[in-house]
Amino acid sequence: MSHVFINGQWYRPEEAVISVFDRGFLFADGVYEVVPFYAGHALLFNDHLDRLDRSLGEVGISNPYPRDQWLSICQTLAESLTDANAVVYIQVTRGAEFPRQHLPSTEIEPTVMATASHWAPPTATSEPVRVELMEDIRWLRCDIKSVSLLGNIMLKREADKLGAFEPILHRAGRITEGASCNYFIVKNNVLYTPPADQLILAGITRDWILTLAEEAAIEVQEDAFSIQELMDADECFLSSSTREIQPVGFIGDQPINNGKTGPITQQLAELFRSNRPHVTHQIVKEHR
Ligand code: PDD
Repeated sequence: MSHVFINGQWYRPEEAVISVFDRGFLFADGVYEVVPFYAGHALLFNDHLDRLDRSLGEVGISNPYPRDQWLSICQTLAESLTDANAVVYIQVTRGAEFPRQHLPSTEIEPTVMATASHWAPPTATSEPVRVELMEDIRWLRCDIKSVSLLGNIMLKREADKLGAFEPILHRAGRITEGASCNYFIVKNNVLYTPPADQLILAGITRDWILTLAEEAAIEVQEDAFSIQELMDADECFLSSSTREIQPVGFIGDQPINNGKTGPITQQLAELFRSNRPHVTHQIVKEHR
């Protein structure tokens, strides 16, 4: 089992504790990242750390560690698991202070927590899933990877009650993203995904899929699409660091591509798997 890293110290999971006055606990005042490791190699590590820097910058928390230290922490966590196949979770909150007050004091030190869980990286394209359309009830800064995920959790529970794999969210008639993923559609051989504005998290997987598509000469449009355009799509899939490319076969009761994985979805999923080894970060031993 993985250990837990808290502020420079390593703990067994049952011993890992933080203050009840931590602002992450009291206000969800913090940000996080999820980095997938394949046999000890992080996929697109620098992109994840760039996004962490950006999220921290947006909420005004300073990054307590240089990048090589982050890599060393994540690497140690990943390598503590079988085959070093790991989903590494890192979280930075503004820190703990007493008494509770909305406006943080300036002297407060961030709280860093990191841990890893074992996962089995996909070896084949998963079977298509059913997703459920729902109104996006979240805040208007979904570009920040904030630990404040109550809206996402409510939507995920609602989708689960309906037997769906994920919600597919819409705001003012436009598709945004899922509770924990981005969405793509294909229409007339063009790949569409909503633009990386403040209404979605700019997924690292999303970005890499766009690069892979361009390299494969698939036309790409980062354009908002409507519920109707979604329903009329030839193909649909979702993406995230842990799902890679997950085909969508049904939106509610409506089949997409007869409920089957579409050809461009399949092509991109295969490109994803075959290119994974080229964008992983090498193991750095000297910092351990
Ligand atoms: N979630 N949008 C949301 C709201 C997400 O939570 C995620 C990822 C994504 C996809 O981002 P990426 O491709 O960088 O994983 C999009 C992670 C996996 C999580 O919260 O566990």
